Amino acid sequence: MKPCLIFTLLSTAGVILATDSKDDDPNLPEDFTIPYMVYLQSRSEPCVGSLIHPEWVLTAAHCPLPIKIRLGVYQPSIRNKKEQIRNYSLIIPAPEFKARSLENDLMLIKLSKPAVLNSHVGTIAISMEPLTFNDSCFIPTWTWNEYKNLSDPDILTWINQPSHPFNYCKNAVGNRIAVHIMCVGKPLNIISKVKEVSAAPAICNGRLHGILCWDKGSVTLGSEAFFTEVHHYARWIMKTINTH
Ligand SMILES: *[C@@H]1O[C@H](CO)[C@@H](O)[C@H](O)[C@H]1NC(C)=O
Ligand SMILES: *[C@@H]1O[C@H](CO)[C@@H](O)[C@H](O)[C@H]1NC(C)=O
Ligand SMILES: *[C@@H]1O[C@H](CO)[C@@H](O)[C@H](O)[C@H]1NC(C)=O
Repeated sequence: MKPCLIFTLLSTAGVILATDSKDDDPNLPEDFTIPYMVYLQSRSEPCVGSLIHPEWVLTAAHCPLPIKIRLGVYQPSIRNKKEQIRNYSLIIPAPEFKARSLENDLMLIKLSKPAVLNSHVGTIAISMEPLTFNDSCFIPTWTWNEYKNLSDPDILTWINQPSHPFNYCKNAVGNRIAVHIMCVGKPLNIISKVKEVSAAPAICNGRLHGILCWDKGSVTLGSEAFFTEVHHYARWIMKTINTH
């Protein structure tokens, strides 16, 4: 049985409303994309980037350097004609990113050439303020049908999750340091073969609110997931874009 899917793409800015998480839906057109999702192809661990400006992608600082930056992608394992491929010209991790504790886990990537904005490729606005409790967040990523080393993922998937209050997240992280984070999901111990691409975005109230830092299993299957909260870094992001 497939969950019923209601999908509305309101603009190229990528305001998206969807019901629950889904498997590959046979009704999606082949050239379907979530316009701000960027595939950061890499030899070790690919990541999701989010296009926040025609020349800039926001992702997690724990991601490796991409060997290829692909925009307008539906299934990374398949090359489509409308895809735009870029290299990077600058990589700027957030000041004070700590690889061990994953504090300040954000990174800006400047594209070698601006993206051409169209119905397949578009930007998403970053959040400038905190969420209110229980705001719903849309979290898309790619997964592998069957994980093979060095292969690209083949499934676009997503989930809608209400955000937890900060105190809940702070308790849930255990002995990790919780600064500038938001979280969603249940403390489920989901054993799954599904492997998800790292650094999924959380879109809440139509804006990019979080970048996935780590999770306890699988965010799109509903397990607890912790995101770097973008609005704390809005000033650094704007300044970096304006000065480079
Ligand atoms: C991409 O850019 C980096 C840094 O400027 C460079 O080292 C690398 O060779 C480039 N890759 C390609 C495929 O052009
Ligand atoms: C949070 O939102 C969900 C979905 O909209 C709702 O089912 C739930 O009751 C809400 N929780 C609280 C505590 O308001
Ligand atoms: C995947 O391939 C790389 C390069 O060949 C290798 O270093 C790595 O250990 C492999 N990983 C797994 C899980 O097989």
